[in-house]
Amino acid sequence: MRYLTFALAKGRLAGKAMDLLARLGVSCEEFYEPDTRRLIFTDEKNGFRFFLAKASDVPTYVEYGAADIGIVGRDTILEEGRRIYEVLDLEMGKCRMCVCGPESSRELLQRRQLIRVATKYPVIAKDYFYNRRQQTVEIIKLNGSVELAPLVGLSEVIVDIVETGTTLRENGLSVLEEICPLSARMVVNEVSMKMENERIKTLIRRLREQIRSERI
Ligand code: PRP
Repeated sequence: MRYLTFALAKGRLAGKAMDLLARLGVSCEEFYEPDTRRLIFTDEKNGFRFFLAKASDVPTYVEYGAADIGIVGRDTILEEGRRIYEVLDLEMGKCRMCVCGPESSRELLQRRQLIRVATKYPVIAKDYFYNRRQQTVEIIKLNGSVELAPLVGLSEVIVDIVETGTTLRENGLSVLEEICPLSARMVVNEVSMKMENERIKTLIRRLREQIRSERI
């Protein structure tokens, strides 16, 4: 039997996704070995193979078929815009993509001023401001700690992920507008969906049942 290969966004999400799969009978002890530097893990019983990748690379591995399946946040899926099928909401890692800033920026936003927007997500920010709000802004791409930007005068607002809101609160920033809800999603390569249809459909059905049973 050919391995079904999964690309997991490394970090908290990978651990949660593996725990969910473990509750479906996927056994991958190697994954839980502390301090392992190993990149690929196998579950011989089910014929599954897992690897950890940087979140933004997961849709790339899936589009090219190096992974049949990916588990990654909707933020990354939207930002990367790859040709992949999004098949299931795993209902974990729930958060929101928001426009945030100091309260003083609220008026600039409403008055449609030419403001600067700092973000790790230029595609999402551009789509929101240009297509949904039909407002011209200057987008500044950053790679992390985006909340710094309005504090030091790089931008008036940011587009970023808000989970608990702690980072914003501790830095005197607020949610000014909500762009969209986010959570972890399962994505599938277009060819794999045809070639491994039975196995992938069975997996989706079992995951959906498991998620539903844990919800209530
Ligand atoms: C994310 C996000 C916010 C923070 C939101 O950052 O970019 O900074 O989490 O979480 P909260 O609402 O619970 O405070 P991440 O930890 O991924 O770090 P980074 O921004 O430096 O990449």
